[in-house]
Amino acid sequence: MLHDSEILAKLMARQKNYSLEQAFYTDPGVLDLDLRQIFYREWLFAIPACEVPKPGNYVTHQVGAYNVIIVRGTDGEVRAFHNACRHRGSVVCKAKKGNSPKLVCPYHQWTYELDGSLLWARDMGPDFDASKHGLKPVHCRDLAGLIYICLADEAPDFDAFAEAARPYLEPHDLGNAKIAYESSIIENGNWKLVWENNRECYHCGGNHPSLCRTFPEDPSVTGVEGGETPPHLQKHFDRIEAAGCPAQFRMGERGQHRLARMPLNEGAESYTMDGKAAVAKPLGRVPFADAGTLLKFHYPTTWNHFLPDHSLVFRVNPISATETEVTTKWLVHKDAVEGQDYDIKRLTEVWMATNDEDRIVVEDNQRGINSPAYQPGPYSEVQESGVIQFSNWYAEHLTRALTGRNLIAAE
Ligand code: FES
Ligand SMILES: [Fe+2]
Repeated sequence: MLHDSEILAKLMARQKNYSLEQAFYTDPGVLDLDLRQIFYREWLFAIPACEVPKPGNYVTHQVGAYNVIIVRGTDGEVRAFHNACRHRGSVVCKAKKGNSPKLVCPYHQWTYELDGSLLWARDMGPDFDASKHGLKPVHCRDLAGLIYICLADEAPDFDAFAEAARPYLEPHDLGNAKIAYESSIIENGNWKLVWENNRECYHCGGNHPSLCRTFPEDPSVTGVEGGETPPHLQKHFDRIEAAGCPAQFRMGERGQHRLARMPLNEGAESYTMDGKAAVAKPLGRVPFADAGTLLKFHYPTTWNHFLPDHSLVFRVNPISATETEVTTKWLVHKDAVEGQDYDIKRLTEVWMATNDEDRIVVEDNQRGINSPAYQPGPYSEVQESGVIQFSNWYAEHLTRALTGRNLIAAE
């Protein structure tokens, strides 16, 4: 298990535009550092707000060693708390999801309001101050229907990202969504391999027969902007923006997020086997059925596809150095009726297959990297600009955290 100083030395010696050294994908010390410096510090996408539509609805979410309760209060606000009772520390909410007018600890029944304040604790004596024993809050923000949390005592700025993303998200009306289906899989691969795979479509032609029916294998769609926007993309952005819907490629400062409404293949509207919409009652007000997909990523936990008829939210959660949970939720209009407005199989089959295909390539990638014979290999600058961008973000973030300065990658 590597120490921080050894990891920093490896980061400083990193070969630019090459995959990372083995330890970054296998070593528990690196995962520990990733958790401490990234997952315990940054804003993390947790759930769509529609997962807790009513007061008392809650979800629990494990991130590394932390367990968090996300609950909608009687005032309609979504809040997050550490799931550790202020009496002797028991988890308060045991279920993955639930509904309860108060949060009651199962051990000695200390009872908390939905805003985390301690309402009742039996026989604690006259000097006991309930106001000092509320559930510990976790930073929590609702960004146009997407709940983000931050475990740090002091959260980094969220507003710049929120202000950039909100206009792109608003046309998708996520406040009126419901979860039609969700899937959670464990991929036997490091969380960074999950991301590296996500950030390129170099692998798509050879691995994703159903996705490739609608998703273009054009590297300018998956990659990062390098200089001029290609004319076919600019034309697409201009058409959508002229109709009042943000589309233009937009990358966040330091590369932590990206927004762009990218075209699908000619004539395709949604991720279905025939390319037509999957849901008759659309979620949102996107001006054209062929407006493509709003691609949004926000490191380290989420990439998303927002389509004219439905939305897909993905969440990446490291379980160990070589295991990652990937959760996918298919969001449709809350009034869309299953069997009438949409069919679950038709809605989900492309991404159920794609997720499984991605799991296989990530697991194969991990197994190869586990060999002592593995050595970092070159990324394709044509096809893997997104992967280069991700590894640079990762390396620069960690280096800044460990040294307080930016990394100059070795040539
Ligand atoms: S630990 Fe929660 S009430 Fe005792
Ligand atoms: Fe893929």
